Amino acid sequence: ARHLISTKDLSTEEIQELYSLFRSFKGGRREKLKGRAVLFFLEASTRTRLSFEVALRELGMETHHVGRGESAIEKGESFKDTIKVLSALGFRLLVFRVPFVLFPYEPYLKEGISLINAGDGTHQHPTQGLIDLFTALEHYPSLEGLKVLFVGDILHSRVFRSSGELFSRFYAQLGVCGPATLIPSDLSPFGDVKVFDSVDEGIEWADFVVYLRLQEERFKESYVPSKESYFLQFGLTKERYKKLKGYFMHPGPVNLYVDVDPEVLYGEKSLVLKQVQNGPFVRMAVIYNLLKDQ
Ligand code: CP
Repeated sequence: ARHLISTKDLSTEEIQELYSLFRSFKGGRREKLKGRAVLFFLEASTRTRLSFEVALRELGMETHHVGRGESAIEKGESFKDTIKVLSALGFRLLVFRVPFVLFPYEPYLKEGISLINAGDGTHQHPTQGLIDLFTALEHYPSLEGLKVLFVGDILHSRVFRSSGELFSRFYAQLGVCGPATLIPSDLSPFGDVKVFDSVDEGIEWADFVVYLRLQEERFKESYVPSKESYFLQFGLTKERYKKLKGYFMHPGPVNLYVDVDPEVLYGEKSLVLKQVQNGPFVRMAVIYNLLKDQ
C-alpha cells in the first residue's frame, strides 16, 4: 500500500504530477475507484473532513467516518491495532487526524491499508500544504524568489511544517513573525528564513502572507498575554491589510479579531475561500494517485 504521511514523502516530480491531476479534476475530469475508505478523526475538523468526504464520494468510494469518542480507542485500543482492525474489515484507505504523532511511522505502514495524514499533532498536514502550494501557483506563475511571510504560532503549526516545506522547495524565500515564544529555534530545514519581530516590517518585506491560528489546544503554558494584545501586535488589522503587496492566505479555522479582522477576511486580497474550494480537488488528486494502480 502507498501512503502520504509528510510532504517530504513526495518528490518534486510527484508534486508536479499531483498539480496536473488537481487541475484536471478541477476542470471536470472524473475517475472511479473501488473499495472502502474510512475517515478517522480524533480531532475536530470542518474543511479537511468534509473535503475528503466530498473527494472520496466523487471518486466513487464507499466512505465511512469515525469521530472523537466513537471508537474503541476510548477503551484503550492502540492506534496500531486500530489500523490492523480496519485493514481486516476490508478498508483500502485510512485518512486520519490525531492529536499525537506516530513516530516512527514505519510499523504503521505495513498493514496493507493506505494511510493519509490529515493532521497529526504538531507534525504535518500534507494535503493542506498541497492546497496552499497549488492555490499560490494559480495566482503566481512561479514561486521562485517570492517572499512568503508566515505569521502566528509557527512553533505548533503542522501547516507551517507542510506548507513551509513546499514553498521553500519551490524556491520561495520564507519569513516568519510571531511571539518569540512561538518561533522554533531551528528553522534551517526551511532554508534561510528571515525572522521578523515586527509584523509591520514583515508585511513591508513580503510579497505574500500566510496567517496561522494560535494552536491553544497544544499550549502547555500561556504564550500570549491576551488575545487583544496579540491581535494589535500581530493580527491582520484593516491598516495592515491595506499595506499588503499581494494576497494573503489562512488555512482556517480563523479566530476573528485574533488572527484577522472580519472586515478584511474575505477581501479582494484574500485567498481564504479559494483554499477551501481547492480542498476537494487536491484530495481527489492525492487519493487517486495513491490508489489508482493498486
Ligand atoms: N485547515 C484545516 O485543517 O481546517 P479544519 O480543522 O476545519 O479541517
